[in-house]
Amino acid sequence: MQSIRRVAIVGAGLVGSGWAIVFARSGATVRVYDAEASIRASVLDRIRASLADMREVGLVDDVDGIAGRITVADTLADAVSEADYIQESVFERVDVKTAISLAIDAAMRPDAIVGSSSSGIPASAFTEGCVHRSRFLVSHPVNPPHLVPVVELVPAPWTDPDIVPFLRTEMARFGQVPVVVNREIAGFILNRLQGALLNEAWALFEEGYASAADIDATVAHGLGLRWSFMGPFETIDLNAPGGVADYAQRLGPLYHSVAQDRTQPRPWSEDLVGKVAAERREALPGESLADRRAWRDGRLMRLMAHKQAQKD
Ligand code: NAI
Repeated sequence: MQSIRRVAIVGAGLVGSGWAIVFARSGATVRVYDAEASIRASVLDRIRASLADMREVGLVDDVDGIAGRITVADTLADAVSEADYIQESVFERVDVKTAISLAIDAAMRPDAIVGSSSSGIPASAFTEGCVHRSRFLVSHPVNPPHLVPVVELVPAPWTDPDIVPFLRTEMARFGQVPVVVNREIAGFILNRLQGALLNEAWALFEEGYASAADIDATVAHGLGLRWSFMGPFETIDLNAPGGVADYAQRLGPLYHSVAQDRTQPRPWSEDLVGKVAAERREALPGESLADRRAWRDGRLMRLMAHKQAQKD
């Protein structure tokens, strides 16, 4: 397979516009399409604003060069018909993903690859009826993809087996960190890990063990510091003198008993969500959410710049 030079972005909201930056900053030409005329009209300005912020922290140099490789298409066919790779980022609904996959299928080159940004719906749920269904898979990013590099590659049972290794190499060339999920599972890896932590956080709060702020602090000023550069297996490998096997021997029984506490998971009830929301809104009024998101993106950019500067 030829390396990816021409990319189509279908759906240019939060995630799609970030993907456009990912591909264009590594030299690809990018055609962007969104069903909403207002999004098509504003997407290039949003992309330029993000690129300007990235330049401030040294994450990109040539804002004009990158933005100049991104153009907006007025029709889906115009965006996808010549693309080597199509990144779909429309709403997370099976009916919407099915309709757009069929429309892409009808307009794409037979040898193009289509990756869906789906957060948890597997590709087999929305690509079965596509003529080129062997060219479709899930390429699930984290928001925003131009600042958080991991991307989960999740093939459907009918995805051509050559595509995953090819896309793994290509995504790495585009500066992402691809991980391969060998077969479909709801939530993939990222949201299953996030879900395990969130479910435990809600349960601890509900049972009155700690405030939301103290549970957050445990991650922000504890676990999360290591997690920004190593995962849970490497963490425990370094946390016992004899490595992971030693750790498992020392603490395996504790974690097993913790897991046995949670064999009957409960939904996040309205009452429970209301209590956490009340604590959060006291700490951060609703009208300050947008400012705090901008603060978060600034911190993320500086963290990414720091990570990129590390040589080890
Ligand atoms: P969004 O609502 O910001 O953007 C979705 C865009 O798709 C909208 O601009 C909408 O006009 C467009 N759209 C809808 N139907 C369309 C169609 N038929 N043709 C063309 N454009 C269409 O949503 P967001 O957050 O960007 O999510 C997109 C996808 O990415 C979803 O599958 C979501 O689960 C996934 N995702 C979202 C993350 C997040 O944190 N926001 C993280 C990782 C993945």
